[in-house]
Amino acid sequence: MKTERPLLELQNISYSYPESKSSLLQEINFNINTEQIGLIGANGSGKTTLFQIIMGLLKPDTGKILLHGTEVNNEKDFLGLRRDIGFLFQHSDDQLFSPTVLEDVAFGPLNLGMTPDDAKEISLRTLNQLGLKGFEDRITHKLSGGEKKLVALATILSMQPKLLLLDEPSNTLDPATRERLITILKEQNLPHIIISHDLDFLASTCTQLYTLRDGQLIRCKEKQIHSHEHIHPYGDHPHQHGT
Ligand SMILES: Nc1ncnc2c1ncn2[C@@H]1O[C@H](COP(=O)(O)OP(=O)(O)OP(=O)(O)O)[C@@H](O)[C@H]1O
Ligand SMILES: [Mg+2]
Repeated sequence: MKTERPLLELQNISYSYPESKSSLLQEINFNINTEQIGLIGANGSGKTTLFQIIMGLLKPDTGKILLHGTEVNNEKDFLGLRRDIGFLFQHSDDQLFSPTVLEDVAFGPLNLGMTPDDAKEISLRTLNQLGLKGFEDRITHKLSGGEKKLVALATILSMQPKLLLLDEPSNTLDPATRERLITILKEQNLPHIIISHDLDFLASTCTQLYTLRDGQLIRCKEKQIHSHEHIHPYGDHPHQHGT
């Protein structure tokens, strides 16, 4: 009987930055198929580096990356992987490069070979879905941090990925926008790995939790997520609940 291979597999991935003496990632083994995974770890533990390795932006010292059971080796293979895996950068300014929002969001679909009309249609639809109706002609570099984050998300969702890698998606969002992002991710219901220090966000969007520590990626046996007290998003301003 043929066994299904995971969507993405990492086998014995190790990595050190050339200028560093110690090994940042040590023989990481991991796979994901349909899971929705949260990834936590201290600042500098290597979470972003791991995503960059998966996307082929950094070459691991050892180990293999497999997509649907096939090893991803060269730049051509990684171009294929980048069609299937949508990567939201930690810093949106690293992701957005076109003058206008529409050009940025349509870039991926055009690259996939869609006609300009189809690319525009899917881009406008994605922007609407993210609550960014009317943003299409806005100048990208003039957007606020949170707006940039949502536009960056639109640039990957417009490519209809099979798996999302999101690097700190909620870190610049106000409480209402953060809730909207949670709703969007639930509606998408795609497999994903979300790096975050926002445990409540992970509790709302993920079913498994991994931690990266001392170069090792370890699955937390059960969700180690506890509710906690927080500052009310409206502070002392008069407000109504449920709005
Ligand atoms: N290009 C680089 N050259 C050398 N060292 C680097 C480079 N990029 C990152 N590092 C170092 O590698 C370590 C891991 O960085 P990485 O960005 O992967 O951490 P992270 O877990 O994503 O942290 P954070 O939670 O702060 O985003 C850090 O100590 C960082 O300083
Ligand atoms: Mg990081």
